[in-house]
Amino acid sequence: MASASVMTQPAMPKATFQPIIQKQTILSKRKLQDISFDPAEHLTYEQPEGVIMMKDIGYKDDTGVSPVAASQPFRLFSTECVQKFREEVLSDQVMQSCLYKSNLAACQLRGYATKYAPFTYDAWHNPDVLSIVSKIAGVDLIPNMNYEIGHINISVKSEKQALDERAAVERERKSYAEDEGIAGCPWEDDKPVVGWHTDSYPFVCVTMLSDCTNMVGGETAMRTGDGDVMKVRGPQMGCAVVMQGRYITHQALRALGAQERITMVTSFRPRSPFLADDSVLTTVRPISDLSVVYYEYGCYRLEMLEERVRFQLKLLREAHTAGKKTDTKALKRFLGEQVDFMQRTNREIVQDEDVVAGKQPELDIPDAKIPSPSVEPDRSSKRAKRA
Ligand SMILES: [Fe+2]
Repeated sequence: MASASVMTQPAMPKATFQPIIQKQTILSKRKLQDISFDPAEHLTYEQPEGVIMMKDIGYKDDTGVSPVAASQPFRLFSTECVQKFREEVLSDQVMQSCLYKSNLAACQLRGYATKYAPFTYDAWHNPDVLSIVSKIAGVDLIPNMNYEIGHINISVKSEKQALDERAAVERERKSYAEDEGIAGCPWEDDKPVVGWHTDSYPFVCVTMLSDCTNMVGGETAMRTGDGDVMKVRGPQMGCAVVMQGRYITHQALRALGAQERITMVTSFRPRSPFLADDSVLTTVRPISDLSVVYYEYGCYRLEMLEERVRFQLKLLREAHTAGKKTDTKALKRFLGEQVDFMQRTNREIVQDEDVVAGKQPELDIPDAKIPSPSVEPDRSSKRAKRA
């Protein structure tokens, strides 16, 4: 079970937690507090090398809101932009007020963008950024809720732990070269960062905020339609991966050899209120300020309903005014769909006292086919199985 691995995650960062990258790299001579998000400067977009379609991994094209399953990692944000994200995200205010831990992840920062991170907020609302993410996803997307802008996962290790991992990886690489892996992989028993799960929201864009130079592993494993596994490479700093995580069972595999790994996850839903929105709050309720999440979720779901009702009213009135017979079947179908929509919305709003803080649900899926982190990064794609 994945739960065994998550319990062995590094302890929560202490109050003295210092982002390692600031000591390692001179990123910008400009004063970061003076900058605001400027796509001309902060976007360094390069098309992903490829996109994996739902049908490539054994799902039907219409499983979700797009035929696209996931992208390969692609360059998205400049180094200065990443540095500014980090400055906002790792500020004392955010670390003190927006830190959540759960049975699945020891250190998460959530719901900070509106209040404490104007640059991050602007970046994920920027039309150019939305256009890039939407184009890759194959459907016009907007951030699911402001609360879900820039969800942060932090994993930190001691310098010794990272060095030991790196030495072990080097040893394994040598034996790999000598013996093409016949002796097996020492990471075979290693567990993922978070167990098999589906996301709560249709699409995610995962952006890497750490220097991954010495990192091995850190891929995303996706379960294919027939239960096999396919891996997508983890992104480098400033790069991102887009995935239709609501519909694909997946997990983040362990990353070895790096002292810190900070990822920023922004969730999206279709812009059009007329498309399905299968968003749920299952995984986020236990790690959220419920008042804020219920407010934002309630608002946008009601707004969707408002738009749908307004449009339906227009159709009804126009038909009647034109002397046409009322289409009973169509009217009943519309009403039935909206009743279902409202019932699903209501189910997600669980009474506050019934939500157990910090207890995220896990999927009970056997780990038999979990792939190990690749000891030879270049071979990871060749070793990935395809349905
Ligand atoms: Fe996920």
